[in-house]
This record gives sequence, C-alpha cells and structure tokens, in this order.
Amino acid sequence: MSQHEFLCRSEDLPEGEYHELHYTVAGRPRYLVATRVDGQARAWYNRCPHAGQPLNHAPDQFLTDEHNQLICAAHGAVFEPRYGRCVAGPCPRAILTGCPVVEENGSVFAADDF
Ligand code: FES
Repeated sequence: MSQHEFLCRSEDLPEGEYHELHYTVAGRPRYLVATRVDGQARAWYNRCPHAGQPLNHAPDQFLTDEHNQLICAAHGAVFEPRYGRCVAGPCPRAILTGCPVVEENGSVFAADDF
C-alpha cells in the first residue's frame, strides 16, 4: 500500500546537496540518500549496488566529484544524480534503487510501497 512518510522540509533539501534521510516502517528505519536536481527532489535507498554498502562515509556526509556526482565511500563507484546510474567505478551502468518522493506543503515525503 502506498502512503507518504515525512522525510524533511523542502528547504532542508537544497539544489545539489546530498543528504541522508530516513523514515520508519514497523519500527525499523530505512535510510535514503536524497538530493534535488532542477528543482525536483530525488531519493534512493542508501545501499550501493556494487556490494551493498552505505554510500556515505559518515552520518549525512557524502563524497562528490567535480561534477557533483555521488561517489560511494566504499569502493568509489560514481553515480549521476538524475537517475542514480553508475557512470564510473566497479559497477558500470548499475542503478541505485529509487524511492519515489513527493513534495506537498513545503515538505518532502517518501511515497514508496511500504
Ligand atoms: S559498495 Fe559501493 S562501490 Fe563497492
């Protein structure tokens, strides 16, 4: 069943920044990495398709390259921020697992099937 789970206020997800967000299902947290591209919020589950590691190197801290693409902290896979596709590193063309998001009334919500 699809429902909306609050992630953050819209102003806390500025264009081009990456943030670790989470929501809870049945008492268990699910972690996301989220950004904003051309004004649209985007989010993926914070799990690299190469070896399943979290993408960040510290809480809410993500590495990026000179094009502001996301770099996995484990082995350096590089993901473009529009579709989450790997463009360099050990898992070429792999795609991060997306989490649909919606924005309503100045807030960002996860809208996955929970
Ligand atoms: S787990 Fe991300 S590059 Fe290996």
